[in-house]
Amino acid sequence: MLLLLLLLGAAAAAAAAAAAGGTSSTGSSSTSSSSSSRMMMMMMMMMEEYWSGTWAAVALALGAAYMAWFWRLARGLRGGPRVWPVVGSLPGLVQNAERMHEWIAGNLRGAGGTYQTCICAVPGLARRAGLVTVTCDPRNLEHVLKSRFDNYPKGPTWHAVFRDLLGDGIFNSDGDTWLLQRKTAALEFTTRTLRHAMSRWVARSIHLRLLPILSHAVDARSPVDLQDLLLRLTFDNICGLAFGKDPETLSPGLPENAFAVAFDRATEATLQRFIFPEFVWQFKKRLQFGMEATLASSVAHVDRYLSAVIKARKLELVSSSSPSPSPSPDRHDDLLSRFMKKGSYSDDFLQQVALNFILAGRDTSSVALSWFFWLVSTHPPVERRILVYLKAALSETLRLYPSVLWLASPLAFEEVDRLVYLKAALSETLRLYPSVPEDSKHVVADDVLPDGTFVPAGSSVTYSIYSAGRMKSVWGDDCLEFRPERWLSPDGTKFEPHDSFKFVAFNAGPRICLGKDLAYLQMKSIAAAVLLRHRLAVVPGHRVEQKMSLTLFMKHGLKMHVAARDLNPIVAELRRTRPEALAAPPPESQVNKSSAVPTEVAAVTA
Ligand code: HEM
Repeated sequence: MLLLLLLLGAAAAAAAAAAAGGTSSTGSSSTSSSSSSRMMMMMMMMMEEYWSGTWAAVALALGAAYMAWFWRLARGLRGGPRVWPVVGSLPGLVQNAERMHEWIAGNLRGAGGTYQTCICAVPGLARRAGLVTVTCDPRNLEHVLKSRFDNYPKGPTWHAVFRDLLGDGIFNSDGDTWLLQRKTAALEFTTRTLRHAMSRWVARSIHLRLLPILSHAVDARSPVDLQDLLLRLTFDNICGLAFGKDPETLSPGLPENAFAVAFDRATEATLQRFIFPEFVWQFKKRLQFGMEATLASSVAHVDRYLSAVIKARKLELVSSSSPSPSPSPDRHDDLLSRFMKKGSYSDDFLQQVALNFILAGRDTSSVALSWFFWLVSTHPPVERRILVYLKAALSETLRLYPSVLWLASPLAFEEVDRLVYLKAALSETLRLYPSVPEDSKHVVADDVLPDGTFVPAGSSVTYSIYSAGRMKSVWGDDCLEFRPERWLSPDGTKFEPHDSFKFVAFNAGPRICLGKDLAYLQMKSIAAAVLLRHRLAVVPGHRVEQKMSLTLFMKHGLKMHVAARDLNPIVAELRRTRPEALAAPPPESQVNKSSAVPTEVAAVTA
């Protein structure tokens, strides 16, 4: 067909040329000078006609050939949105830019879980770099994320975009570079020490800063932007965990912190690179123009801050290794110190470790919590059940006395572990609003996915985590309902996880999120502390919308009114259902303990 059109085009060109040639042969008999100049003009006009005719014919032939090629390309794509010549599915993407995740989910529903699209319909690119396979089919996810893990790395585009900020750190590397860091870090994440460290950092920021700020909002009757407070809190937590220093961005007055600002700017400028082809941002980088200049100065600021932290920590570790009369067991259990104690890593490497963990663990928990508080405030029966389970768990650990005393100290480890309904509600939130809504892998060699889709080498596979949680075929007819019960055993006493390729909010396979358990610990502690003390309601008129970014932020934040919680209805419900839990007087030891400075907080402030 392609050949036929080319031949037709060539024939047309030849005919045009022949016609032009025929015209020229008629004007060659005049001999006078005026007639010779007329003849010259005529010849030029004929030549022009000849060439324009030829070019038109060639253009026509090429256009026809392209359309034939494009038609075959479009027919070969599996399902998906409409593709246009040259720009592929970009018009659809642009048109749906404000509701991208819903648009992708709708396309996937229509296509049965997988479709292919082309973002650059140009021969040579369309079936490689320009081809994207989008899927949320659990069989395909298992194949890409686990069974054929080596064939689907993050790939060169991702690596190039993040290299200036993250270097070759765990979040931005593949192959052996990644594996080495993963093994080293995984060892740390299985220890209880890191859990204890997270518990202390989170208890400290909840009790010393978040709760006072919320109490102030109650007294002042002024709404808060809960998303902003949570972003600050988790940023402080992850800095504490990564390098043992809390920048206290969550403080009364919500001060600006130079390190946090530089980190935000660097992330934002890095993400801008995804919008342009690589040669464009590389060119801007060379000229130090626009966001590339911002990126360079922000990365330099972050580098300076972290290298000072590393130098100071090295000195502290040297001095703390000499015998001291009162060694402090709580200090230096952050990731950086633990890496330093293990081996002689370069400062650059240590800096990358800290930075990669901050990026991986900073916004993910806070956006999940924002969606959680919004969902809970709009589903009162779920909120009530969370509180009843919470109170029952506290009763089991002998917090039997008046509810005001429950609040005096942070929840203990065992108490947090018992909060199965809260964990179910958080998981249900992440199913519907995963912090990382879409993720992508590069295809190294030609492959066929389990559902039969052929994926060529050089193309990419986008797996839509957002859509994976919203498919009837996977979660049933009520897949769009917020129903934490789907995570509980039939008697409601145990948390029952779903298959990790159905629920991919934490990724799955060898690259599953390393901080998953820490994230649950952190989110449960914050959610329980806030809900026990406060009722939250979205400010009337405030629009809760998704922001289109790599992380599922709320576009306009989360403006909420805060009121004091009256726990009496919960106590009354427990009195009805479990009277024995409330009958006994508080043991003396418990009363003393709870009126003291909270132990977790005291440990950190010491
Ligand atoms: C609700 C909270 C969280 C969610 C939903 C989440 C989700 C994810 C996802 C989807 C990935 C894969 C990203 C990719 O490869 O493109 C990931 C990776 C990772 N996460 Fe989390 N995360 C959370 C919290 C945390 C926390 C608190 C930490 C650290 C303390 C953390 C540490 C990591 C690390 C180190 C990786 C990279 C793993 C690797 O590539 O081998 N995450 N997380």
